Amino acid sequence: MEVAIRIILFCVVLCHGGTFAEKLCFPKNFLFGVSTSAFQIEGAWNYSDKGESIWDRYTHQHPERVFDHTNADVAADSFHHLREDIKLLKELGVQYYRFSIAWSRVLPTGFSNVVSTDGVKYYNTLIDELIAAGIKPLVTMYHYDLPQSLQDLGGWTNPAVADYFKDYARVLFNTFGDRVEGWITFNEPYTFCLSGYGGNDAPGMQSSGFETYLCGHNILRAHAMTYHLYHNEMDARGFITITLDMSWMEAATKDDEDAAERARQFIFGWFAHPILSKEGDYPPVMRQRIDELSRKQNFPRSRLPVFTPEEVKSLKGTVDIIGLNTYSAYLVSEGHSKVDKTPSFQNDMNVYLRQDPTWPRSNSSWLRDVPWGFRKILNWIKETYNNPPIVVTENGVSTVPGLKDVSRVSYIDGHLRALHAAIVEDKVDVRGYTYWSLIDNFEWMRGFSERFGLYEVDYASANKRRTPRLSAAYYSNVARTSCLPTPQAVTWLRNHLQ
Ligand code: NOJ
Repeated sequence: MEVAIRIILFCVVLCHGGTFAEKLCFPKNFLFGVSTSAFQIEGAWNYSDKGESIWDRYTHQHPERVFDHTNADVAADSFHHLREDIKLLKELGVQYYRFSIAWSRVLPTGFSNVVSTDGVKYYNTLIDELIAAGIKPLVTMYHYDLPQSLQDLGGWTNPAVADYFKDYARVLFNTFGDRVEGWITFNEPYTFCLSGYGGNDAPGMQSSGFETYLCGHNILRAHAMTYHLYHNEMDARGFITITLDMSWMEAATKDDEDAAERARQFIFGWFAHPILSKEGDYPPVMRQRIDELSRKQNFPRSRLPVFTPEEVKSLKGTVDIIGLNTYSAYLVSEGHSKVDKTPSFQNDMNVYLRQDPTWPRSNSSWLRDVPWGFRKILNWIKETYNNPPIVVTENGVSTVPGLKDVSRVSYIDGHLRALHAAIVEDKVDVRGYTYWSLIDNFEWMRGFSERFGLYEVDYASANKRRTPRLSAAYYSNVARTSCLPTPQAVTWLRNHLQ
């Protein structure tokens, strides 16, 4: 069957309320959006005076490390297809669009001494066009792509970079703050501090257990400074947050409860505890374990840096709502504790993670479709941090190329049902859901091999053609009606469209 006909059929069935049992609807002010990030979609990596980012440098220097040996020099070329992408957003009927600003496009030197006219013009156009289309911009200020000039000074291991981030933030607030009401300082610090300073991502540092923690420390400092800058020095018109990430960490057995909670504290609590807990500072379990292991490893001081009392105080409560990226779940067991001579984050955390092979797979090795994990992580945040308002800033799934993405429809539908239950039955205070991603994009070290888009991008075509997948029809129906189709409707569609 022609894809267009399938999509129409899809809409007819989904929108038809009366045929099936009662629908599940989200609360009145609940918002639906989609997300992207600058490096992953913009292309135009050296257009005009744009500076080089660590991801430009890394992918150019090490194509062999990227799964398909590609880079994001052009990617989906959103820089030149901005209006087309806004058309897709309108077509979807989402209420907001989460995108990121490339620091090196606005400040080519990385510092605020030079502000790029062309860089500012691009984001001004994007923001203005979104607003004209009735779509609220939700801006991520940092989505992995540090200016290379700042990496040359040590990147996030250098405390001064936190000050440079604040300078950059000031430029953003002054330039776009009259129209942007939602700001996210950092996207997924756990992931980029761990994978960038102790893994395989840019900037390619291999110092897990040292630089990883320095990175986290300076990110937290930068975040707090930026929060206070926004609320105390700017004409703040909106809210500001940070986006933290974790897949749900489920204890593999009853005996693994401690290990599972330790994993949650090392992954999410690392950043959430200083900001959201009553006591502030790093989670006690991180402090104790890393201090103790550092001692046993014969270091004169802990590898986990120490906040001053003023810093602890200034970090507390620095979100107006908390951003959550979550995709999947893991089963956690106790690790095999040993004092390794080579310190590492993994050794400090000391857990063993695996996934149940019966959970439906995606096209990403780490991502299985586990909706109950979504409900559990939302409840855990509610219980652990005294019921903060939450915005789900990312949730999504990858597929192989192709428009009949039935597995994505199942994934989104299952996760939205779990979310609905968390809000309505468990009373978790979730205000918005953001699907990752609007369009296919450069999936970091996996290159273009994993597709997360509601819209497929034909990278081989001259104009990087975007085509809606079935999931776009599904999601659009939810975003427009704020209700989920009945399970019978979804099953019917799955069976007929397979
Ligand atoms: C999290 C990241 O923020 C985003 O950049 C990435 O593409 C998705 N997860 C999918 O892995």
